[in-house]
Amino acid sequence: MGKTIIISNRLPIQLQIHNGGITAIPSVGGLATGMKSVHSGGDSLWIGWSGLTDEEIPENLVGDIDDALSKHGSSKVNLSQQEVDGFYYGFSNRTVWPLFHYFLEYSEFEIESWETYKKVNQKFADAIVAKADDDDTIWVHDYQLMLVPQMVREKLPNISIGFFLHIPFPSFEIFRTLPWRKEVLEGLLGSDLIGFHTYDYERHFLSSVRRILGLDVSFNDIYLEDRIIKVDSFPMGIDYKKFSDAALEHQQRSKAEQSELQQRLNNHKESAPDAKFILSIDRLDYTKGIAKRLNAFEYFLTKYPQYKEKVRLIILAVPSRSNVPQYQLLKREVDELVGRINGEFSTVSWTPIWYFYRSMPFENLIDLYTSSDIAWLTPIRDGMNLVAKEYVATRTDKTGVLILSEMAGAANEMNESLLINPNNFEQIADTIHQAIQMPKEEQQERNDVLQKRLERYNVERWANDFMSSLTDQKENSRSYVSR
Ligand code: ADP
Ligand code: F6P
Repeated sequence: MGKTIIISNRLPIQLQIHNGGITAIPSVGGLATGMKSVHSGGDSLWIGWSGLTDEEIPENLVGDIDDALSKHGSSKVNLSQQEVDGFYYGFSNRTVWPLFHYFLEYSEFEIESWETYKKVNQKFADAIVAKADDDDTIWVHDYQLMLVPQMVREKLPNISIGFFLHIPFPSFEIFRTLPWRKEVLEGLLGSDLIGFHTYDYERHFLSSVRRILGLDVSFNDIYLEDRIIKVDSFPMGIDYKKFSDAALEHQQRSKAEQSELQQRLNNHKESAPDAKFILSIDRLDYTKGIAKRLNAFEYFLTKYPQYKEKVRLIILAVPSRSNVPQYQLLKREVDELVGRINGEFSTVSWTPIWYFYRSMPFENLIDLYTSSDIAWLTPIRDGMNLVAKEYVATRTDKTGVLILSEMAGAANEMNESLLINPNNFEQIADTIHQAIQMPKEEQQERNDVLQKRLERYNVERWANDFMSSLTDQKENSRSYVSR
């Protein structure tokens, strides 16, 4: 059995140049946080982009960069600014991301960025081929690298290749609008196993394969002349123990050991013991429904004025893809909405919304999760949403209410939370009211079931299920060929 090569656009760390030296910061996002736990436990090499373009790297730091990455079991693919613009800001995040999240009107179809996407995918494929032995297993991640499986297959026809998509796969009617739909499907079909978070995404993908490529699909197997490709759903979990242990450890801290943020949260709780904190954490992304959430919060305060001065919404938004115009517009919209709602409802002793626009260290995420009575996540579309799972995992006494959009992949596994339609303000306002009023026993009953499920289907189990399914699939495919 050889090694596993993980390949994704982002590495577990992002490098930055600071005061003439290299600093590494942890990457944010479901893929990086989830796979980090898998990578740290085994014999794997992670290939990806360092976060710095060729133009940004001074020659004297090249060695330091390779050292910093190899400490994290990682190796980099070099990208120029022009490549990052076309591949990452361009085709990945102006074409595929909006299209696959059903924001058709945001999707741009530009031949230049498609060409750069192909070129950069080839670079990633070449980086794999340079490091891979025949008995290795290649695990390719996400929509930035959909052509890589076929590009690797051409050079290493017998190697095991798995692909996992961390975002939704849209219905055929949406996917068919992509000018390069055929090429994208053919790229993915270089894999032996293709995984999605939910059965719906899997079904949409198979329907596109059947209707666009006209291939023979039986149940969830795709038959090629010389191979069978399996398509399946693997809902991604979290590192449950890491979050629940961190929350337990957090509770045992003395006042002096607490972070500044925690002390601030405690002061507010002490000054208003009946007050409730409602938390939302996301990358600042239009798919997360942050602007709608703010409008819905305003509606809630108007419909239930008894909660004025009693409820505070904490919004933590991490900057994301800020070179893409839609993200810049969203930033402005959110700033304005927060300002307007705070202006309208604030009193001398109360500001309804606390808004943080930054990445936070893990310790502060735990401060927020453990101090919030309610987590409220409103994606308009979301492949999975790991924040929902992380919140539940940190509730050591099992209190706390999760309000979750039914449009998140996570909703399929989290029926015991309060599910909402992010477009239905009436339902949202009533659900926040229900969450605030929910008896402690009911909160604990719901979280007990959720926690047991999250603990069982953790990220390690997700990775093991995927890898063992890939091994089985390779065997099936071999016996199919030798028949
Ligand atoms: P996505 O992959 O679309 O960003 P997920 O909810 O699946 O959405 O994953 C987000 C991940 O990023 C979570 O693991 C969460 O803890 C982390 N994260 C989100 N916001 C922040 C933040 N402001 N600071 C640090 N980590 C964050
Ligand atoms: O989980 C979906 C995802 O797009 C990952 O592919 C990505 O790492 C993450 O969200 C964050 O986005 P980005 O890498 O563009 O900052």
